[in-house]
Amino acid sequence: MDAYVVFGNPIGHSKSPLIHRLFAEQTGQHLDYRTALAPLDDFPAFARAFFRAGRGANVTVPFKEQAFALADSLTERARRAGAVNTLARRDDGTLLGDNTDGAGLVRDLTVNCGLELRGKRILLLGAGGAVRGVLEPLLAEQPEVVVIANRTVAKAEQLVHEFADLGPVSASGFDWLEEAVDVIINATSASLSGELPPIAPSLIARDHTFCYDMMYAKAPTAFCHWAGEHGAVRAVDGLGMLVEQAAEAFLLWRGVRPDSAPVLAEMRRQLAMS
Ligand SMILES: NC(=O)c1ccc[n+]([C@@H]2O[C@H](COP(=O)([O-])OP(=O)(O)OC[C@H]3O[C@@H](n4cnc5c(N)ncnc54)[C@H](OP(=O)(O)O)[C@@H]3O)[C@@H](O)[C@H]2O)c1
Repeated sequence: MDAYVVFGNPIGHSKSPLIHRLFAEQTGQHLDYRTALAPLDDFPAFARAFFRAGRGANVTVPFKEQAFALADSLTERARRAGAVNTLARRDDGTLLGDNTDGAGLVRDLTVNCGLELRGKRILLLGAGGAVRGVLEPLLAEQPEVVVIANRTVAKAEQLVHEFADLGPVSASGFDWLEEAVDVIINATSASLSGELPPIAPSLIARDHTFCYDMMYAKAPTAFCHWAGEHGAVRAVDGLGMLVEQAAEAFLLWRGVRPDSAPVLAEMRRQLAMS
C-alpha cells in the first residue's frame, strides 16, 4: 500500500492522519498515512530514508524550510512561500515540493464561507511563515489591497518587497490602522496564548467585515470572540483551512480531489467532543 506521513516535531497532536483516512475512505483510495516524529538535528536524512519507499509527506513545524531545501523541484507557490508543506515522490524518484496552505485558506474563504475576495480590502495580521505561505494565492484573487500588519514592522515590509510584483500590498504597524476593511485574517500566533494583536475595533464595519482566525479551537478563539463583540458579520476559525490544505495535498498525490465538506463537519464534531 502507498505510504504517506506527516513529518513534525512534536507531532502527536496532528489531525492529518484522521483527515487523510477520511479522504481515502471517501474516494476509495488505498493508502497508509501516519505521523512521523522527525529528529530536530537531522531532518533531511530522516526524510530521505522515508522516501526510499514512501510516496508523499506533509511537513509541519519546524521543518517547512528544510523541506523546501530538500525538494528537487518546487511549485511556484512553494517557491514564493519559501517553505514546503507537501512533498511528493515522482516516478523518476525526485521530490516535488508544494505549499498548499494558501490554496487551503483561499478555498475555505471562497468555497466554504462563500466570500468573494476580488476587489476587497484585506488586512493580514502577522508576517510569519503562515502569511508568507498565503500571500501568492490571496493576491491571485485580485483584492483591492492586502495590508500586512505586524508587531515587527520590518518583517511586513520585507514581505511587501518580495510580493509587490503580484499585486497591491502594503505594510503597517498594528496601531497605525483605523479605517474599516472588508476582511481581517489573523495569522499571528498571539491566539495560541489567548492574546490579541492590538488593533482598533474601528477596523470592523458593523455587519460587513468578515473575520478569520487561522488558529482553531474547541471554543471560539480570542480573536473570533473579539470580532463577534465588535460586530463582525462573521468570525470563522482555521479548521477549514487545515482540512482544505490537506485536500490540496491529497489531490497532488492521488489525482483526486476529495469532497472536503463532510470531512470538515466530522472534524468539527470531533473537536467539539474533545
Ligand atoms: N489553520 C491552518 O491550517 C494553519 C496553517 C498555518 C498556520 N496556522 C496558524 O497561524 C498562526 C501563525 O503561524 P506562523 O507559522 O506564521 O507562525 P510564525 O512564523 O511563528 O509567526 C508568528 C507571527 O505572530 C506574531 N506574534 C506572535 N506573538 C504575538 C503577539 N503576542 N502579539 C502580536 N503578534 C504576535 C509574530 O510577530 P513578530 O514578527 O513581531 O514576532 C509573527 O508575525 C499560528 O497560530 C498557526 O497555528 C494555521
